[in-house]
Amino acid sequence: MELHDFSMKKISQQTEHTRKRYNVSSVVYDLMEWPVEWIWYNKWRKLLWKKVEGPNVLEIGIGTGKNISFYPKNIRVNGIDLSPKMLERAKTVLSNYPNERVRLQVMDVQNLDFPDNYFDEVVATFVFCSVPDPILGLKEALRVTKPGGKLHVLEHMRSRNPLFSSMMVKLDGPIHYLSGVHIARQTVENVEAAGWKIEQVKDLTMGGIFKRIKATKSH
Ligand SMILES: C[S@@+](CC[C@H](N)C(=O)[O-])C[C@H]1O[C@@H](n2cnc3c(N)ncnc32)[C@H](O)[C@@H]1O
Repeated sequence: MELHDFSMKKISQQTEHTRKRYNVSSVVYDLMEWPVEWIWYNKWRKLLWKKVEGPNVLEIGIGTGKNISFYPKNIRVNGIDLSPKMLERAKTVLSNYPNERVRLQVMDVQNLDFPDNYFDEVVATFVFCSVPDPILGLKEALRVTKPGGKLHVLEHMRSRNPLFSSMMVKLDGPIHYLSGVHIARQTVENVEAAGWKIEQVKDLTMGGIFKRIKATKSH
């Protein structure tokens, strides 16, 4: 695992806040997520990774490595995350699924250390709720993707139900302060605003809170 030196890179206060929050929650993250993982996330991850052909894949915000067991054979993955502590956990998971084609790096999606047009596909599961500037991160993901390459996203976002939506907007600030997570983002709109061409948006739960988004980089 490579630890990029954050002291050398200028990162915003907000990004530092997010990194600290995930460093702290890394200890309990898998335990906290266990119920939703069991009810929903696991099966959504499995379906998502069935569609990934690679061969050269970027996983943004790999976290504690919950997707690693679903990686198809014959793909190469660069798994990046802002939080070294989350990545330490991913490293342990990777040791149970030894794969020399997977490389873990501490990196900020808002400032990727990869050349233009480098990856065939990019995956992000439950990440753009936390990235301080999601449009900047999605633009960086677009930059490093080859023309015709794909973006696969699983995400929770602002409900389309007006009552839930206004509650989510009100609670967004305090929840973000405590956890680093924004609950009222409009991620489909953000993906589009970053320049991706939306191919499919699928509601995974009622109210449109959880969605699967597929997008491509136009030629
Ligand atoms: C809710 S967790 C999801 C982890 C994993 N993708 C999953 O499906 O379980 C969000 C992850 O995004 C990472 N993250 C947040 N902002 C980021 C950024 N700017 N660059 C890279 N990773 C970031 C966090 O450190 C955290 O590990």
